[in-house]
Amino acid sequence: MEKNKKKGPQKDSGKESLSRRKFFVSAGNAAIGIAALGSLGVTLDFLSPKVLLELPRRFVVGMLANMQPNSVTFDAEHRLIVFRDKQGYFYALSAVCTHLGCIVEWKETGIPGHPEGVIACPCHGSIFNKTGDVIRGPAPHSLDRFKMYLEDEKIIVDMTETVSEEEMILKV
Ligand code: FES
Repeated sequence: MEKNKKKGPQKDSGKESLSRRKFFVSAGNAAIGIAALGSLGVTLDFLSPKVLLELPRRFVVGMLANMQPNSVTFDAEHRLIVFRDKQGYFYALSAVCTHLGCIVEWKETGIPGHPEGVIACPCHGSIFNKTGDVIRGPAPHSLDRFKMYLEDEKIIVDMTETVSEEEMILKV
């Protein structure tokens, strides 16, 4: 009887040690698996191509027939404002504020002293006139101006380079 009593606890201790070993082996395998998955993710991220899809810098902004005189077209995709004045002439201004890069907005109602309309930046209050010059800072300089073309009744803007106020006008 005494022998059985001694063997009982010894068997339990062996089982306990076995299950503890199993637990640590499983935990170790799980940790290795997690580490392997993590490093696989990092490797795949490293190997995947980092492609930045850039918009074309010269593009059709609209059809001549659809852009009426005395109209303003905002192109959110290219961050651009295209004006067609009362005479029917076109010009295009960047909608990116020259202060810290916020997107400016056309305000048709204008402000006192500029009833013809202004371009306003919602971030820090810069105001530009209709042709992009700074009326009120903190913007340090005028909005970028771009060259425009008429090709096959299509109005094209070329944002590859900025031009002067005189050069930006497209007379049609
Ligand atoms: S970003 Fe336009 S005023 Fe600051």
